Parts: sequence; C-alpha cells; structure tokens
Amino acid sequence: MAGEQRFTGRTVLITGGARGIGYAAAQRIAAEGGRLALADIDGATAAAKALPDAIGIACDITREDDVHKMVEQAERTLGPLSVFINSAAVLDDKLFLESGPADWQRMLGVCLHGPMLGLRAVLPGMVERGHGRVVCLASDSARIGQARLSYYAAAKAGVIALVKSVAQEVGRRGVTLNVVSPGATNTPLRLNREQSLREQMGEEKYARRVKSVLKLYPVGRIGEPEDIAASIAFLCSDEASWITGQVLSVNGGFVMP
Ligand SMILES: NC(=O)c1ccc[n+]([C@@H]2O[C@H](COP(=O)([O-])OP(=O)(O)OC[C@H]3O[C@@H](n4cnc5c(N)ncnc54)[C@H](O)[C@@H]3O)[C@@H](O)[C@H]2O)c1
Repeated sequence: MAGEQRFTGRTVLITGGARGIGYAAAQRIAAEGGRLALADIDGATAAAKALPDAIGIACDITREDDVHKMVEQAERTLGPLSVFINSAAVLDDKLFLESGPADWQRMLGVCLHGPMLGLRAVLPGMVERGHGRVVCLASDSARIGQARLSYYAAAKAGVIALVKSVAQEVGRRGVTLNVVSPGATNTPLRLNREQSLREQMGEEKYARRVKSVLKLYPVGRIGEPEDIAASIAFLCSDEASWITGQVLSVNGGFVMP
C-alpha cells in the first residue's frame, strides 16, 4: 500500500530515473519514505527537484568512470545504498537485416553493458552490509522475441541471464536481484516510437494498428508507468526477501510465459 513506509531510511539509486518508468518508481518509493538518487544522461537534476530528499546525478551508464562516480555521489550524499534499480535504456526500431554492428554496439552498451557496470559498482557494498535489493528492467520482447527489435530484445535477454546468474552468487549475502519485464507502457520511450510509426504509416493504417495492438492485451489497455512502478517497489521492499532471480512480466496479460 502506498501509505506504508516501506522505504524509510533506505537509499535508492535509479538509473534512467529522470522520466518514464524510472521516475514513476522514484515517485512511488519517495512516497514511502525512500531517499532517492536519480541518475540519468539527461534531466536528472530537474527531475529530482520535484521529489523530497532526492538528488539528481548526471551519468552515462555506458561509462565505467561515470557509473563509479554515480554510486560514490549517491552514497556520500544520501548514505549506503539499499536499493538499485536499472531502468535506463534506449530503443531502436529496425529490421535485423538493416541493422549493423554499430547499432548492436550502442544497444548492448546501454542495455547490457550499462547494467553490468551498475551491478559491479553497487554489489560489493551491498554484499559487505549483508543487504541489498536490485531490480533490472527487461522487456517481454526478450522472452518471446519481437520483429524490428532484435538487438533490443537480445540485450534484454542478456539482462535476464545476468540477473539470474548473479542472484545465485549473492543470495546468501542478503542481496536479491530480480527482473521486471514490462509490456507496452505509455512512457516517452514508447510514445516516441508510436509517433514515428504513425508518421510512417499514416493515420488510417496507424489507427488499425492501435486497435490490433490493444487486442493483444487481455486487460484491455496499455500500461502506465505507475503499473510497473508498483511491482518494482514490491520487489525492492523487505516483503520480497524470499524472491530472487525471478522475471515478473507486468503486461496486462500480453504474454504469459
Ligand atoms: N515503455 C515501454 O513500453 C517498455 C516496455 C518494455 C520494457 N521497457 C523498459 O523499461 C525501462 C524504462 O523504460 P521507459 O519506457 O521508462 O523509457 P524512457 O525512455 O522513458 O526512460 C529511459 C531513461 O533512460 C535514460 N537513458 C538512456 N540512455 C542512458 C544512458 N546511457 N545513461 C543514463 N541514462 C540513460 C533516458 O535519458 C531516459 O530518461 C527500460 O529499461 C525499457 O527498456 C519499457
């Protein structure tokens, strides 16, 4: 329940925290007493101003020096990290045969190498303190594949494998790692892609697409960032201490893997 103070006294670092799902998770956790460090390549300071006890940190998660500075700044200002949420990502819409090594490199850099760097920076302290919660965002495209998203899906599948493997290594040290796998959610990431599809398809064809996409969602609507934030907050709370290495699809029933 939002009224409960599940995060009082906890320091929470969120990459991609300036907008979308990362920011919704920040709002949710702040409402439950958490001290937030929002890290983002863009807009972190402005986003943090709207939350109590929050700081913004400019960070490119593909850069190891940035990631170390991000963790150092968060801990120096707010105290040792209890929770790490990796939400930062980019999205590309391209057929596999049109994609090239540079596309793959950029995507793997943000969506797989970035989470790896984040885990390497936050886990030693969590293991030493005997407590930590980590949630990485993946995508249902990683679980079932998706045309035009091959390298995004491949990077996210890597995140799932990374989280499951590391969860086995640090569980006994009081640290849990899980994956939240959203279906289509109305954030700038999705809305920008929809806008470009609309321009490519034209109004009529795009309206048909919207209807057919909705039919894929048994709950009958596209997700909102708050839908995903609620599950992230649960997995980051003490209530989830016996859940680790799991992938939770939060997707209105889009797939049921
Ligand atoms: N929205 C959806 O439909 C959807 C579906 C499945 C999975 N996801 C996943 O959920 C997570 C959040 O997505 P969102 O929809 O909120 O996206 P978003 O684009 O709204 O937010 C992502 C944030 O990541 C930041 N970012 C990008 N590259 C960065 C970098 N190199 N370093 C630091 N920050 C960087 C962006 O500036 C942005 O603020 C992502 O991991 C995404 O892959 C989203």
